[in-house]
This record gives sequence, structure tokens and C-alpha cells, in this order.
Amino acid sequence: MSFALNLPKLSFAGVGAIEDAVAVLNQQPIKKVLIVTDKNLIKLGLLDKLTQELTSYSIEYVIYDEVTPNPTVTLVRNGLKKFQAEECDCFIAVGGGSPVDCAKAIRVVASNEGDICEFNGVGKVTNPGAFFIAINTTAGTAAEMTSNSVITDEENKVKMVIIDGKQIPDIAVNDPTLMTGLPANVTAATGMDALTHAIEAYVTPGAHTLTKPTALEAIRLISKWLPVAVDNGSDIEARDNLACAQFLAGMAFNSAGLGLVHSMAHQPGATHNLPHGVCNAILLPVVSKFNAETGPEPFRAVAEAMSGNTFDLNDKQAADLAIELICNLSVRVGIPSGFSELGVTERDFDGWIDKAMQDPCLPGNPRQPSPEEVMALYKQAL
Ligand SMILES: [Fe+2]
Repeated sequence: MSFALNLPKLSFAGVGAIEDAVAVLNQQPIKKVLIVTDKNLIKLGLLDKLTQELTSYSIEYVIYDEVTPNPTVTLVRNGLKKFQAEECDCFIAVGGGSPVDCAKAIRVVASNEGDICEFNGVGKVTNPGAFFIAINTTAGTAAEMTSNSVITDEENKVKMVIIDGKQIPDIAVNDPTLMTGLPANVTAATGMDALTHAIEAYVTPGAHTLTKPTALEAIRLISKWLPVAVDNGSDIEARDNLACAQFLAGMAFNSAGLGLVHSMAHQPGATHNLPHGVCNAILLPVVSKFNAETGPEPFRAVAEAMSGNTFDLNDKQAADLAIELICNLSVRVGIPSGFSELGVTERDFDGWIDKAMQDPCLPGNPRQPSPEEVMALYKQAL
């Protein structure tokens, strides 16, 4: 079987990306745009440049700003009603993972028969749907260029993961000027999420010649620029490099897959509503150590990318160094050292093990753990 590299048709990165994306949109035969976002981003003025550009081209738009973190089935259904009632024929998502995922899901149900719950899983989407621009406002999830959306089915208390290349936006936009207002703790968490994407995508057996270089470059850029952006959020060079880094990490993991860090991190994220990037950052050194015990080789390149140096070390020593560098970066950007600092206790782990073992990210891990090993890893991360 060949390797599939899934990407948006077009991506704009850098200052001016929004203007360039709207100029392309203006060439499309569209009548009215549904902008999917949240109220906070409007308050922060992050839609101003977009709406000015749309107005300058006389492109009609209407805003759906109801999106909340962990978007729900109800939000998707309400968004569909608005899309249809307003007779829209195009989507622009503005935000991090939540608005972008919500827009992906609304677009699916706007152009395919059935309720959003019927699309849970892999490859269930038939029609890609309306023209779609995703404008990223954080440097972490890479949702603006990936093929999955995560929607909470609040009735059945299930986090659905809809995975289909047809969900990839037509245009991905990364304009660093939208990211300068992100607080330091969010910058740190989203940056460590992107680092986790890159490292998991590099060490997975699913890694390919087409994805390994982008993963390593993401690791290099995040190691260099994340501390700079955490110290000075308005450093546009740091923001630009981090936006590119998370996009590169997205290029890698969207096609190569993720691993045990994500499958374990999804559980405290769901039960304690902890930031996804923080959960990943806490688990990344613990799981990397576990993976390196049976396969240290790929961690040499991780250590080299993180430090910018090559080392006269054996594989085991190089892997140990990579794990030390990950821990150092976490401390440097202010990530908590363990889950106990976030209100988690050992009693919480029992409910997490089965779900972590069934998580769709687990098969991508280079070493398949037993439930007992997952429990031991959670304990190490406490
Ligand atoms: Fe992630």
C-alpha cells in the first residue's frame, strides 16, 4: 500500500496571510460566508482584519459565534441551521481547534445526508462540501490543516473523532499577528502540544520519508522559539516560527499518526477538563522513556533537533538526553511537573486505563503497552 500525504489545497503563512486568502476567496463562485468562531475572539478583535477584507470585496458574511471549548453535537446542529437559514455556501473558521473542528463538522452535515453522529469514525464522509478557509489563532493543534474533528456527543457522553481527508480545509491560514495576544500559559501549552505531535509522528512506525523531515524541523523550531514566545508574546518572529512549526508537525502527524502520549492525555482532558497541551507535556517524557526502553534509535534525532548538536553517544544515552531536553523545555516554559499539581489523584486512574487502551491514537505508538503498564505510566506522571 502506498503512503498518503494529506494536505490543504493551499496554505498561507506569515503576515498578510488573511488578505491573501480572502483575495483567493474572491475568485470563487460563492454568495455568502458562514464565519464560525467564538465570542471571545470577536471581543479580542481577531476577526477585524477578516471582516474588513470581506467587506472590501463586497463578500457577504454572517457570523456563528456560539462555539465553546470541546464543541458539541448541539453546536454543530445549530450551526447547520444557521448555514441553511442564511443560505450560505462557504465556511470560514477563525480560532484554535474548537471553532475549526466545529466548522469542519457543520460542513460535513451541510453536504452529506445524516446527523453528525453518523460520521463518527474513519472515512464516513462522501462529499467534501462547501469551500472552506480555516484561520488559525493558536500555534498547537494544526486543526486548520488536518483531516479530523473532535465533537462531543453530550447525550451519550462520548467524544467523537471524525477522521476523513475530505474534512481538510481548502485553504489553511497562519497569520502570526493573530497570535501575539495569546497568554504565556496558553502559548506554552499549545507549543508543547505541537512538540508532542512532532515527536510522536517521528517515532511512530507510521513515520515516512515524507513526514520525518517536517517532524524534525517542527521539533527544532519549537525548541528554539517557544521560550522566546512565552517570554515575549508580541515577538512576531517567534510567533511566525511557532505557527510554521505547528503546521509542519501537522503535516507529519496528520499522515503518520500519533501515539500513547495522546491516547493517555485524552483522559485527564475529558474528566478534569485539563488543557490538552499540558496533559501531553506532562506525559511526553514519561511515555518517551517507555518507548525508548525497546526502541531508543529515533530519539537520537529528537535530541539533535532539540539541541542543534550531534552527540558521540550510544542510542540509549541519546534517548536519555532527548528525554532530559523535553523535561528542561517543559520547566522552562512553566508546565506543571505532574498531574497532582492539577488536582488529579491516583483514584482517577482506574477510569482512564480502558479508555486510553481503546483510544484511536494508541495503535500508532511504537510499543504497545498492557493496561498495567499504562497504569504505571500514569503513576509516574502524577
Ligand atoms: Fe494534540
